[in-house]
Amino acid sequence: MAPPVAEGALPAWVAVLGCGLTLCCLGGAGPLWSSSHEWRKLILTQHWPPTVCKEVDSCRDTLDYWTIHGLWPDRAEECNRSWHFNLDEIKDLLRDMKIYWPDVIHPSSNRSQFWKHEWEKHGTCAAQVDALNSEKKYFGKSLDLYKQLDLNSVLLKFGIKPSINYYQLADFKDALTRIYGVVPKIQCLLPEQGEDVQTIGQIELCFTKEGFHLRNCTEPGEQLPYKQEAWLAEGASTEGLMVCEDGPLFYPPPTKTQR
Ligand SMILES: *[C@@H]1O[C@H](CO)[C@@H](O)[C@H](O)[C@H]1NC(C)=O
Ligand SMILES: *[C@@H]1O[C@H](CO)[C@@H](O)[C@H](O)[C@H]1NC(C)=O
Ligand SMILES: *[C@@H]1O[C@H](CO)[C@@H](O)[C@H](O)[C@H]1NC(C)=O
Repeated sequence: MAPPVAEGALPAWVAVLGCGLTLCCLGGAGPLWSSSHEWRKLILTQHWPPTVCKEVDSCRDTLDYWTIHGLWPDRAEECNRSWHFNLDEIKDLLRDMKIYWPDVIHPSSNRSQFWKHEWEKHGTCAAQVDALNSEKKYFGKSLDLYKQLDLNSVLLKFGIKPSINYYQLADFKDALTRIYGVVPKIQCLLPEQGEDVQTIGQIELCFTKEGFHLRNCTEPGEQLPYKQEAWLAEGASTEGLMVCEDGPLFYPPPTKTQR
C-alpha cells in the first residue's frame, strides 16, 4: 500500500488557522477539556479521502486508501504555544508523511501547514509522554501506529472495498472489532438532499496513554467527546461528521483521475 504521490501536489490548512482562535478563547474555561491539559488516551484518526472531498473543490479525492488525519490526545489541545513546528525535525519521515498523512483538502498548498497544525494543536499535548516528546517521535509514532493498524488491508481482508452498493454499518464495525478487539468509532457524513444514505468518512481507534495498547474509545456510559467539533474546526467543508447510525452506508469509490 504505497501509492505514488505526486511531488508538490499537496497541502495546506487555511481554514485551520481559524480554529486556533476558537481554541484560544475556550482554552482556559472550556468545559470540553481540562485547563491542566490532562488527557487519558490517544485517538488515531484516519479518514477516507473521497468522503473528505465530497464538497471540496480541488481536493485529493483520487486517493484510494485511508490516510491519517491525526493522533489526538482526548482532552487537551494547544498545550504549548511556544513549541513551534519545525519541518526540519521530521525530514527523515517526509517520504511516509507525504503518502500516509497528506493534506487531502488543500492539495496544492504547502503541505506542511497541515502537519504544523496537527503538531501545535495535538502534538504539543501528546508530548507529555516521553515516547512522544518531540516532533520526530510524535509523527514517527503516529506513522507506526497507522502501519500497525493496517486498516486498508483489514478492510480488504473482509471484502470491504469502496462500492456503489451500500454496506451496513455493522459490516465495518464487526470486521474492525474482530480484528482489533476494541470498538472503533466510525463517523459518517449525513445524507445530503437527494441521497438516501450516510457516507463513511472517518474511523477512530484509541490507544492507551502509556504503552500504546489498543483500547475502547469510550467507557461504558461515558459521553462521546468533542470530536464533531474538532472535525469542523479542522476544515471540513460543511456539515461535519457524526457518529454513523446503524443501517446502510455508502463507502464511495475514489474519483478516477482525469488525465
Ligand atoms: C514548551 O516548549 C518549549 C519549546 O520546546 C520548551 O522549552 C518548554 O519547556 C515547553 N513548556 C512546557 C510547559 O512544556
Ligand atoms: C511551509 O510551511 C512550513 C511550516 O509552516 C514553513 O516552515 C515553510 O517555510 C513553508 N514553505 C513554503 C514554501 O511556504
Ligand atoms: C469495549 O467495549 C465493548 C462493547 O461496548 C465491551 O464489550 C468490551 O468489554 C469493552 N472492552 C473493554 C476493555 O472495556
